Amino acid sequence: MRAVTWRGVNEIGVEDVPEPTILNGHDVILEVGLSATCGSDLHLVGGYVPTMRAGDVLGHEFMGTVVEVGAAVTRHAVGDRVVVVSFTSCGKCWYCRQELYSLCDNGNANPGITEALWGQAIGGCYGYSHALGGWAGSHARYIRVPYADQGAFAIPDGVSDERALFASDAAPTGWTGADLAGVAPGDVVAVWGAGGVGQMAARAAMLKGAERVVVIDRLAERLGQVETHIGAETLDYSKVDVPGELRELSGGRGPDVCIEAVGMEAHGLGPSYLYDQVKQQLRLQTDRPTAVREAIYACRKGGTVFTLGVFAGLVDKFPLGAVMNKGLTLRGAQQHGHRYVPEILERMSRDEVRTEHLATHVMSLEDGPAGYRMFKGKDDGCVRAVFRPGD
Ligand SMILES: NC(=O)c1ccc[n+]([C@@H]2O[C@H](COP(=O)([O-])OP(=O)(O)OC[C@H]3O[C@@H](n4cnc5c(N)ncnc54)[C@H](O)[C@@H]3O)[C@@H](O)[C@H]2O)c1
Ligand SMILES: [Zn+2]
Ligand SMILES: [Zn+2]
Repeated sequence: MRAVTWRGVNEIGVEDVPEPTILNGHDVILEVGLSATCGSDLHLVGGYVPTMRAGDVLGHEFMGTVVEVGAAVTRHAVGDRVVVVSFTSCGKCWYCRQELYSLCDNGNANPGITEALWGQAIGGCYGYSHALGGWAGSHARYIRVPYADQGAFAIPDGVSDERALFASDAAPTGWTGADLAGVAPGDVVAVWGAGGVGQMAARAAMLKGAERVVVIDRLAERLGQVETHIGAETLDYSKVDVPGELRELSGGRGPDVCIEAVGMEAHGLGPSYLYDQVKQQLRLQTDRPTAVREAIYACRKGGTVFTLGVFAGLVDKFPLGAVMNKGLTLRGAQQHGHRYVPEILERMSRDEVRTEHLATHVMSLEDGPAGYRMFKGKDDGCVRAVFRPGD
């Protein structure tokens, strides 16, 4: 079957790979309907997340139709239309029972790599390097879904493929941030990054009753989407002093909750950005924490800063003094989607969560390299390139 693959740093291919088969009674095989690019993929493409191998199938945000069911699967049947959480979680280990699904002890068959990096291994993710399990990704005609009773969710009839697709990754990631950052009614919430993840974090914060939600970016098309489709306010960081504006609209205090949805390849202005870039290129730090730093300085005293953006390792010039002295709570997480997808699908069917506008460019697998180029360059207002393997 055809698949979009990682061939090397900044090199995406389309090639024939073997079709997946059921290896475990808890698996299903899915015919992929739609599969999206995600900001996390850019970290793989750019070579910032090691342990990719030439020929690895990319893609972790997807939906499709069940075409084969393992003997132990009870919740799914051939023909079901489902969306699958990007993290592979068993649903039974201690972490899954605490609803911390991305920390699953059984979802990653190669725990040694992240154990060495972070002290403990986290769970696995489709198409996201051998450090996160080496699972084949979803930019292909078919995909094997392990732990299918846990990770695959039936899509309600009234919800379109284009909307349900983002219940796989972008939306539950946003929900993870707003929920675990403790967004409460009346809060002022600032979100850095107006990609799929930032937009969904903003929507989740609004539905949790935040009084004002402000999304920060510099890309006009994305800020326009936030205003039109999400209903949040926006700030263009290339034009205004972000911490000053945030203080202004929060009674002089600063936001109660700051959610960072940018990650290790943050863009920035001025000398500190150049410094971060040089250090990252020289491998003297693995990540550029530009937006996290700004969030820490902007946050009100006693507030919470939450990083949804992906970071791999070590950062420099980290304002630990501000975290400590301002009494901040600093948290982060990969998404615990299994916990939020049922609510998200229900809200999608009530039209309270709209996501189809994120799929700005829909194309066939053969257009994989062009799709990634466009998504990386944010060309033509691209927010997510989405592949339709059936085309
Ligand atoms: N925690 C999780 O489970 C999870 C899941 C999915 C994605 N992610 C991560 O979330 C991040 C965002 O993902 P995405 O798909 O929305 O990515 P994206 O690349 O589409 O969007 C990132 C946005 O951040 C903006 N940006 C860059 N520098 C900025 C700055 N200094 N201040 C404000 N905005 C800035 C960019 O202009 C862009 O619009 C990525 O790091 C991705 O890896 C995490
Ligand atoms: Zn993702
Ligand atoms: Zn588990």
